[in-house]
Amino acid sequence: MALQRTPPARRAQQDAGITAGISGMAMDLPPYRVSLEDWCGWTGASWDKISAVVGHAFRVPGPAQSVYTMAANAALKLIRQNDVDPARIGLLALGTESSNDNSAGSIIIKGMLDQALDDHGLPRLSQHCEVPEIKHACLGGVYALKNAVRHCLLEDSAAIVICSDLALYARGSSGEPTQGAGAVALLVERNPALASLELGHAGRASDYRISDFRKPLMDADRRPRSNLHYPVFNGRFSTYCYLDQVRNALSHLYQRRGVSPAEWLQELRAVFFHRPYRRMPQSAFALVRLCAEALSHGDGSRLLKRLCPETGVALDEALGEMRERHELPKHDADGPGAWNPFRRTNELMKGLRATPEFEELVLHPLRWGDDNMMQLGNIYSGALFAWLAAGLEEAARAGESWAGDEILLIGYGSGDAAEALPMRVCDGWKEAAGRIHFNKALEPAYDLSRSQYEALHAGLAVDDLPSPPGFRVESIGTKTGQDFQDEGIEYYAYSA
Ligand SMILES: CC(C)(COP(=O)(O)OP(=O)(O)OC[C@H]1O[C@@H](n2cnc3c(N)ncnc32)[C@H](O)[C@@H]1OP(=O)(O)O)[C@@H](O)C(=O)NCCC(=O)NCCS
Repeated sequence: MALQRTPPARRAQQDAGITAGISGMAMDLPPYRVSLEDWCGWTGASWDKISAVVGHAFRVPGPAQSVYTMAANAALKLIRQNDVDPARIGLLALGTESSNDNSAGSIIIKGMLDQALDDHGLPRLSQHCEVPEIKHACLGGVYALKNAVRHCLLEDSAAIVICSDLALYARGSSGEPTQGAGAVALLVERNPALASLELGHAGRASDYRISDFRKPLMDADRRPRSNLHYPVFNGRFSTYCYLDQVRNALSHLYQRRGVSPAEWLQELRAVFFHRPYRRMPQSAFALVRLCAEALSHGDGSRLLKRLCPETGVALDEALGEMRERHELPKHDADGPGAWNPFRRTNELMKGLRATPEFEELVLHPLRWGDDNMMQLGNIYSGALFAWLAAGLEEAARAGESWAGDEILLIGYGSGDAAEALPMRVCDGWKEAAGRIHFNKALEPAYDLSRSQYEALHAGLAVDDLPSPPGFRVESIGTKTGQDFQDEGIEYYAYSA
């Protein structure tokens, strides 16, 4: 394997010991919760399956909540919990795939934050702050984080990254139990407190995959789609796209790091994935483990040589499938529903799931924060970082010694692209993890009845639902005149 050359600018930063990464995290969720056990009772779905594959609950936004209110709540908590000087922030980046303004992005959140900072007697965000919105499905937040790290290294200022999304699916669709809503904010700076990111060691991959999960603005007649927030998606196909691109991003990481995949994975303290539902990261990490075995051992490892005959799969065919690049067949009218680039590897994954090694090889590195994540549902761009926050908080509470060790973050965005980010845990991580307050962000939570859920899902107001403090949508503009227009523009109020 050819040695990678380090660019001179980065070498100078490394020599000077300058790193950048995450110093603080905070989360905001709508307070309205649907228990998936109740939902199974309402719909006849199997609770055994949903609790094993999806989770235990998800959140639904009320009419007063939007991507922007959740984002501003999370960012304000971040600033206050970490005593951040807002004037130091040179970049406020929003990662989202469900924001409802097609023109402006994080500037809306900046305005909201300044209003609340005034109320709290704190300085405003700097006027000289960049305010981009970054979109690529659930990966927008990861791209925003990488942007923020570059910003901190090159410009020596701090950044806030906010991932905020509403994951809404049509009632009755296979995605319905995987809904969710929430925002996660990250403080990114030089010499971080939680975990540093060496961008030159990260892996990345992308391929145009047409229709696995998209949100077109127009219908087939070029008219605005009636519900822009519902995705057009193909569940099984989207799963294979996820598996394939995660594998590709990790192959890039191994190559850039010059590491032996199987050995390197074994040394990681914890692994966090983009998490559309509970089973997805388990399947993906099982695939990652098997592919690492295929890449690290020319003629197949002991594990593969055992699993192949047990599952009736030919070893050479499985090795080919795990090592080669997978191209999507040409699009046909019926779509790529039958595409499965990992037919043989799937059998091995099932075989691995049935072995005692599955616990240690796959579940063990994914266990940090897993229980708490069962409460959230899919929060798209924030899902990976919510899991990281839950995991760091749980590990700190458990008295783990992670300082100096590596953890791995895997981001994924449908369409599709993946990122493999190795992060090194910093010396002061426990104190910083103690300021995340993930558990506190789960409160308050009001369990919805079936009729309340159905009304909120349809965007209707529900009487008697308590509304929490923080930002809320107070009104929506209706003016369409020649002299002044504000139709559809949200106005916000803040209560401490
Ligand atoms: C997740 C999703 C694909 C599941 O759809 P589904 O139609 O219920 O899928 P299946 O019936 O095949 O079941 C899914 C899994 O549950 C397993 N399962 C079924 N019953 C089970 C039970 N009682 N206990 C445990 N597992 C069970 C199946 O074996 C299957 O496992 P596998 O994925 O390892 O093969 C669906 O919720 C979806 O489409 N979600 C939205 C798409 C999405 O989020 N994509 C990812 C974008 S990043």
